[in-house]
Amino acid sequence: MLSNAEDDADSAKIWRLHTCCWAARSALAVDGDFVECGTYKGFYASVMTQYVDFMNLPRTFCLYDTFAGLPEDWSTELERTQANPGYTWDGVYDDVINRFAIYDNVKVVKGIVPEVFDQALPEHIAFLHLDLNAGVAETAALDRSLPLLSDGAMVVPDDFGRQEQRELCLVHVEWWRAHGHAILELPTGQGLVTIRKNSV
Ligand SMILES: C[S@@+](CC[C@H](N)C(=O)[O-])C[C@H]1O[C@@H](n2cnc3c(N)ncnc32)[C@H](O)[C@@H]1O
Repeated sequence: MLSNAEDDADSAKIWRLHTCCWAARSALAVDGDFVECGTYKGFYASVMTQYVDFMNLPRTFCLYDTFAGLPEDWSTELERTQANPGYTWDGVYDDVINRFAIYDNVKVVKGIVPEVFDQALPEHIAFLHLDLNAGVAETAALDRSLPLLSDGAMVVPDDFGRQEQRELCLVHVEWWRAHGHAILELPTGQGLVTIRKNSV
């Protein structure tokens, strides 16, 4: 798995990857496609696709990103200040297209979440990885995808429990409470939710 890592920062994400791979694998028991909101260079997605042998699955994995950082309309100034300086964009979109070119069933979709969902969004979702580093964009993605999430679908908000992402955490807690689900905070800083269609 770590052969996909570019540097030590990627390698240090081993337990986050473990969570994602477990959730992706668990989602194979559920009807629907896979979605990642926030792909950057495609590190997590490349590990997950390899882990579940996505190439041979009758499913689609949609990867959404602006490939230009957090957009103003869907993030706070603090979120942009924390995240945007850490990215470099030269050639990244093309590199991600190339990285997943071996997969006929992985779609790289460039645009702003949630607006880009008007272009392409699966009818049924079994796995949703939220890694936008922007709380309002992530809950807007959830607003659009909740009706499409299958019973038993796995949702992993990547930055839910991170100390420096307090705003994002509070937005998620409120959103999940309002939609009848409890979110589990993991020691990695990720959140984890299993969708139950009959939740109250
Ligand atoms: C933490 S990075 C994603 C890391 C990625 N999952 C990986 O495997 O390394 C966050 C990404 O979210 C994207 N992003 C943030 N807000 C967005 C939005 N509203 N719409 C689309 N992409 C967004 C940024 O451009 C950035 O690439």
